[in-house]
Amino acid sequence: MPVLNRIADRAEEIAEWRRDFHQHPELLYEVHRTAAEVADKLKSFGCDEVVPGIGRTGVVGVIRGKKGASGKVVGMRADMDALPIEEATGLPYASKTPGKMHACGHDGHTSMLLGAARHLCETRNFDGTAVVIFQPAEEGGAGAKAMIEDGLLDRFGIQEVYGLHNYPGMGVGKFAIRSGPLMAAADRLQIEIEGVGGHAARPHKAVDTVLVGCAIINALQQVVSRNVDPLDSAVVSITLFHAGTTDNVIPQTALLRGTARSLSPHVRDILEKRIVEIGEGVAKLHGAKAKVSYTRDYPVVVNHPGKTEFAARIAGEVAGEANVNPAAVPVMGGEDFAFMLEKRPGAFIFMGNGDTANLHHPAYDFNDKAIPFGASYWVRLVERAMPA
Ligand code: NI
Repeated sequence: MPVLNRIADRAEEIAEWRRDFHQHPELLYEVHRTAAEVADKLKSFGCDEVVPGIGRTGVVGVIRGKKGASGKVVGMRADMDALPIEEATGLPYASKTPGKMHACGHDGHTSMLLGAARHLCETRNFDGTAVVIFQPAEEGGAGAKAMIEDGLLDRFGIQEVYGLHNYPGMGVGKFAIRSGPLMAAADRLQIEIEGVGGHAARPHKAVDTVLVGCAIINALQQVVSRNVDPLDSAVVSITLFHAGTTDNVIPQTALLRGTARSLSPHVRDILEKRIVEIGEGVAKLHGAKAKVSYTRDYPVVVNHPGKTEFAARIAGEVAGEANVNPAAVPVMGGEDFAFMLEKRPGAFIFMGNGDTANLHHPAYDFNDKAIPFGASYWVRLVERAMPA
């Protein structure tokens, strides 16, 4: 059975919500307007409970099925936050806030889950409880973790949990998923180098932190090539190098920052160990000092085998089996839904966004043509997980 007729009929209205969110992007936990809109809509749909303020600005809606005998509770999560990017789409519904934009499609994720919530409130054709979760701060603020720490999973009795992200470059109406690791652990590293500043014409009297920084960056490139098993995946990228103020002074200090990505706990341990050793060791080699901080941010998104199979089957029902890739290649991007999958079985799925600009690009826009697929996926998932 393809997308739900009733969802398809209302896709334009859901797209209007989406464009409204798009015009009003908010960052991290400051998603006050978005969260208020979401809570108002959930109430107007007739959700049995609407609870704002979970994980600071997260919103949860509870929808009970016609029957409640099964005792099953299924959670579905969307993210609400935008990015600090200057929008360059030129669209009529482009961001009204300079320097902020929905460049990851969270406006679409939120709207699709709202569309599904309305449908589920009207039909309630399931036996159990559906919980719709709208989280803040996916983009680097670990909003999923904040909601969990605020009692999300226990308070609502959530037994399994599902998430979805749009995927530029994959056709609209297509889904991709895989069992096991799907997205990388995303960690942050910072290296503060202290040398000896001095006159640029007297380098022998200084310890040049620019040179030390370069040596550390070069050495760090050997972690992936020499320390990680060639059959494992890892990324180490230095993305910031700050040093100096002018052309005739050797700077006393330098600062490096970057990201480390991995798909397994074992590789993550190797990255942390070697980055710290190399940062400190190479600095010492040059007579400088380095303080290395390695911060574990988002864990690996690990899909539960049984739930992945189930999610792929639902996507197949909605989009046709031929349009679901059950053996997707993992990506090295991070996603804080990983925190939820650490606590409950579930699955995260990618949904085609068509031939659009990439995620986090100033010309990116969520593809409204995908709305019927995403919203239908959520409805079917509830109906099949908890058949009436
Ligand atoms: Ni995103």
